[in-house]
Amino acid sequence: MSLVSISDLLKKAEAGGYAVGAFNCNNMEIVQAIIAAAEAEKSPVIMQASQGAIKYAGIEYITAMAKIAAENASVPVALHLDHGTSFEQVMMCIRSGFSSVMIDGSKLPFDDNVELTKRVIAVARAVGVSVEAELGKIGGTEDDIHVDEKDAFFTKPEEAKEFVERTGVDALAVAIGTAHGQYKGIPELDFPRLEKIRSMIRVPIVLHGSSGVPDDAIEKAIKIGVRKVNIDTNIREAFVQACRDVLNKDSKEIDPRKVLGPAREAATEIIREKIRLFGSSGKA
Ligand code: G3H
Ligand code: 13P
Ligand code: ZN
Repeated sequence: MSLVSISDLLKKAEAGGYAVGAFNCNNMEIVQAIIAAAEAEKSPVIMQASQGAIKYAGIEYITAMAKIAAENASVPVALHLDHGTSFEQVMMCIRSGFSSVMIDGSKLPFDDNVELTKRVIAVARAVGVSVEAELGKIGGTEDDIHVDEKDAFFTKPEEAKEFVERTGVDALAVAIGTAHGQYKGIPELDFPRLEKIRSMIRVPIVLHGSSGVPDDAIEKAIKIGVRKVNIDTNIREAFVQACRDVLNKDSKEIDPRKVLGPAREAATEIIREKIRLFGSSGKA
C-alpha cells in the first residue's frame, strides 16, 4: 500500500470510537518497530517525524523509509509531519512524499494562526495531503503550567469552533493539560474543557504529549472524542533502556545490531501496548 492521509484513518476512528496512534520515528529501527507493532495488532498507524527527527535523519531518508515500510505493510500507514514550523517546510515535506502534515501556528496570534493554516490547506488539499493544526499551548514538562494560568494557555472552546470554521482543518491539536516529554508528577487533564471543545467541533481531536498520561485518562479522552494520540517519549524510554540493558550486561559489546535489535523489539512492545490501549487493534 502507498502512504495514506490521516483523514480517512481518523474518519474511521470516529465511526468506531477509537483513536489511531501517532508514533514518532527517528531512525530505521523505530520505523520498523512502528510497522511491526501495527502489523501484529492489525491496526492502522501514523508514523510522524518531528523537527528533531528531520534534522537528525534528513527528510529524504525519513520519506524513503516510510515509503518502503508502507509498501510492504498489510496495514494502512500515514507519514505525518509533526509540529511543522513554516509554510516552506510543509511544502518541502509534501514534495518529498509526506501524506499528512501538521502546521503548528500555536505560538502566533489567533488570526495569524488561521491565515497560516489556511495557506497550507489550500496547497495540501490540492494534492490529497491532510492537515493538522494546533490551538492553545501544549508546553514541555519544563513549562509547568499553573492552575490559574489554564485559561491563558489551554484551548478555548469558542476559539476552537471559530478556528475550525475559518480554516476547514482536518484535525485539531488541543491544549488540555498534557505536555511533551517526561512528566514530573501525574498530569491532570481538563476533561470538562475537552467535552466542551468536542461539543463545538466535529473534526478529529489530537492529543499531544501523551507519554506518561495514565491509561484511564487516555481512555476517557478517547471516549470524549480524541482520535489521534501522539507518543514519542515512551518509545525513547523503551528504546534506550534496552540499549542500556545490553551494554550493562556486556560492556564490551561492539556489534550495533546486538544493541539496536533488542531496542527495536522493546519499542515494538510498547507501541503494541499503546495500540491496544487506543482501541485500534483489528481495525486495519
Ligand atoms: O513533539 C515533539 C517530539 O516529541 C520531540 O521532538 O524530536 O524535535 O526532540 P524532537
Ligand atoms: P510525548 O513525547 O510526550 O509522547 O509527546 C509526543 C508528541 O506530542 C509529538 O508531537
Ligand atoms: Zn506534539
